[in-house]
Amino acid sequence: SRIGIIGVPFHKGQSNIGVEEAPSTLREIGLVKDMIALGHNVKDFGDTVSTDQGIRHDVPDKIKRLPDLALTCHQLSTMVQTVMSDQRKVLTIGGDHSIALGSVDGHVQAKNGEVCLLWVDAHADLNTANTSDSGHMHGMPVSLLVKELADYWPYLPGLDWQTPRLSVQNLAYIGLRSVDNYERLVIERFGVSAFGMEDIEKYGIHAVTTLALEKINPNGNKSLHVSFDIDSLDTLEAPSTGTSVRGGLTLREGVHIMEIAHRTGWLGAMDMVEINPRIGNSLQVKTTLEAATHVIKAAFGFSRSGHVPPHLERM
Ligand code: ARG
Ligand code: MN
Ligand code: MN
Ligand code: MN
Repeated sequence: SRIGIIGVPFHKGQSNIGVEEAPSTLREIGLVKDMIALGHNVKDFGDTVSTDQGIRHDVPDKIKRLPDLALTCHQLSTMVQTVMSDQRKVLTIGGDHSIALGSVDGHVQAKNGEVCLLWVDAHADLNTANTSDSGHMHGMPVSLLVKELADYWPYLPGLDWQTPRLSVQNLAYIGLRSVDNYERLVIERFGVSAFGMEDIEKYGIHAVTTLALEKINPNGNKSLHVSFDIDSLDTLEAPSTGTSVRGGLTLREGVHIMEIAHRTGWLGAMDMVEINPRIGNSLQVKTTLEAATHVIKAAFGFSRSGHVPPHLERM
């Protein structure tokens, strides 16, 4: 397929520096080359550029660094639409998870609203400015993206370009194990398809992923967006991330989610976020980057069973 890569070196949706280095680090270890090796037509569209917006006093104090996020995500949304109008699938490399506000918005606009969203994460990222304890925007993007929560947000300066275009019916979670009380309330009130680690224990990753995809895209007519937070993986599999929670997905489970996503043929865009190459020792960083690479490759068709030589594929 045709694929476009976008880097988003943004860290202001949370409190640790380093997560903005992930796009360049992943490129350095050969991400683009790996994607080409899978047989794709790959174009690197480069990074979003953000200039410091400082502190604005017309923004609710509780939301930290909203002006910066608004600017970066507007750029990202536009870039995603450009990549898609070039008939390409989009791979967005964060940055922290707040940037999914821009990548998902761009995808939804490019596909005229016909998008379903699979959020693979230890966290629900479903807080509003009012329910968030941390004020970190990486815990809020989903609640800005869904129509059903629009009334729970005040007017946000700088975000005029963004309107919620997704329904909670087209949203599912896999990997949850750290859900705030008000996030849980929203999940229950709106009946969001949320598969936590307990469900994976019970049914297994294959059944959970298949069921999640069926729920959010019952007719198979929507473009799939997978937003993959590396902290969905267990701390041992992906130690270099800011808000790690023990007891998470194995790399095998993470890879299998993406193998299934790939096989549906629905995948339109994927985010890989929250990798922080400044957390942990060099072995831990390497482990985390390798895990991310395996997950990304699975999404774009790498098979653990191997591949026949491309020129003999149809014989
Ligand atoms: N629920 C917490 C918060 O809202 C943690 C969010 C972590 N999000 C993430 N993308 N890692 O602050
Ligand atoms: Mn997240
Ligand atoms: Mn998370
Ligand atoms: Mn615009």
